[in-house]
Amino acid sequence: MCGIVVYVGSKQASPILMKGLKRLEYRGYDSAGIALLNKNVRVFKSKGKVADLEKHIAGQNLEATVGIAHTRWATHGEPNNINAHPHYSQSKELAIIHNGIIENYDSLKKELVNRGYVFESDTDTEVLIYLIEDIQKNEQVDLFEAVRIALNQVIGAYAIVIISKNEPNVLIGARKGSPLVIGVGEGEYYIASDASPIIEYTKHVVYLEEEEVAFVKLNHPLKIKTIKNQEKTPYIEKLEMNLSELEKEGFEHFMLKEIYEQPRSIRDSFRGRLNLEQGIVNMGGINEYEQKLLNARRIIIIACGTSWHAGLVGEYLFEDLARIPVEVEYASEFRYRNPILTEDDVVIAISQSGETADTLAAIELAKSKGATILGVCNVVGSSIARAAHAGAFTHAGPEIGVASTKAFTAQVTVLTLMALALAQRKGTLTSTRFMEILTEINSIPEKVEKTLKTSQQVIEIAEKFKDVRNFLYLGRGYNFPVALEGALKLKEISYIHAEGYPAAEMKHGPIALIDADMPIVFIATNKGTYVKVVSNILEVKARKGIVIAIVTEGDIQVKELADYVIEIPETEEMLVPLLATIPLQKLSYHIAVMRGCNVDQPRNLAKSVTVE
Ligand code: G6P
Repeated sequence: MCGIVVYVGSKQASPILMKGLKRLEYRGYDSAGIALLNKNVRVFKSKGKVADLEKHIAGQNLEATVGIAHTRWATHGEPNNINAHPHYSQSKELAIIHNGIIENYDSLKKELVNRGYVFESDTDTEVLIYLIEDIQKNEQVDLFEAVRIALNQVIGAYAIVIISKNEPNVLIGARKGSPLVIGVGEGEYYIASDASPIIEYTKHVVYLEEEEVAFVKLNHPLKIKTIKNQEKTPYIEKLEMNLSELEKEGFEHFMLKEIYEQPRSIRDSFRGRLNLEQGIVNMGGINEYEQKLLNARRIIIIACGTSWHAGLVGEYLFEDLARIPVEVEYASEFRYRNPILTEDDVVIAISQSGETADTLAAIELAKSKGATILGVCNVVGSSIARAAHAGAFTHAGPEIGVASTKAFTAQVTVLTLMALALAQRKGTLTSTRFMEILTEINSIPEKVEKTLKTSQQVIEIAEKFKDVRNFLYLGRGYNFPVALEGALKLKEISYIHAEGYPAAEMKHGPIALIDADMPIVFIATNKGTYVKVVSNILEVKARKGIVIAIVTEGDIQVKELADYVIEIPETEEMLVPLLATIPLQKLSYHIAVMRGCNVDQPRNLAKSVTVE
């Protein structure tokens, strides 16, 4: 949520900053700005996308080798030119960019107003930079110290970077609850909210820890201390990410590229973990906690958004295969409802970004009650990955499209492996059954490949229904979370209202909506409750609803009833979500494109929600 990119070195800063902002635009895109330091601090900002900022700065003198840049997802104050970052201090000698929320900004602002300060914007960020300048002047301290002192007065979350006219070639960065990574190059430094804008210049990075402040000075070693004034030794890590993973590689949108990456991302998520020859599943990252899982009173899965849907599939998997009771919770509810937790509970936190504020807070709560926390994250080095006791990465590669696609199938793959590893240890599956499932997982990437070839049917359906106002998605068992995920994808990127429901619940409400204009997507694959779902389809047809069905290849019964059919390959019941989700992702993608929506950056959404 909000993107930060910063440079100090010998190159021109503005091209690096603008390119970095474009890479980060998926984090927030309602306004953007840069501040360049060359004798004076000059701020340029603009409402709208990075492209609008680009137009705004065209033709200006942008000469500077130091600069900070920001792309915003508004929290305090509407998205306009004034509220966009960077913000000047009162004297205009300092400039700041900030991700997060300063919760006590109002009381801090009142104190500053009483002391005669006049604010230009409605933002909490401007309050912080005024406070820092006030401390610097009144306490006669340097910028590093002023920032440290100020942050002790702040309640809330922040990733900030500050530049000062009086200390050229110096950047001060700090984090709490919102990530910040420092790239260490040859005679240059970068700072960003994630590694994506840095990767093409250096692979050596330092992730700031909670409540740390960094002093970054050109041609000097990096200095880090905590806001409580404790010196820290910077730990430089090497990034594994490739630049090509951040490019569209010929696809029209990141979302489409990511949909098509799924055969690879699913394979990467089980590679090295699933061993067919030896007939084992080895989850290296959580081996140490396997006993804890086996003895767990229950597993609690916490997540948000699409990751929560993956968690629901996880519930079915753990209960079905390993016979361990599971509860799936929205992190945002869990953290505020005084949950009952003991040392015998294992919490699995699922997050693509590893930065979702509610999930992180829920982890901290569970940890404080003694529960064991396992993370299922996609971003290595992310806050959730580091807050967990152990975990398993999803290896989906960077996901840039705001609507999550390949991260979901990678999460489901990892959860399947975890459930299987536990089932094997517990002996809840016969070895024949265990091997059958293992063998089938191994063939899933090929089947996803095949499923991706259903474009023609999907495009025809999209064309037909792109203008409807409502969609209903129905499924049962393992296909219920698939229905939820299908509906979420559609509403996220096409702005059509869509609801996911367990198919049998239809008669307790949604059935009232059904008429001859209402498309209903059934995930009606041939296992589990197939026969029951057929009855639900009949109920819809009796009310003249339009049925779009995802069925197993060779299906006869549903094909006769449905108006439109998309076939997916035959697979094990618990693996169907990995295939059935694919045409639903594509359906929402094509509908959104046909409606002229911005697929990769849907309105009001952000990729990484680092505020609650
Ligand atoms: C945002 C994103 C969703 C994502 C959710 C949870 O809403 O737009 O795509 O599913 O956050 O994010 P996480 O990174 O924790 O999986």
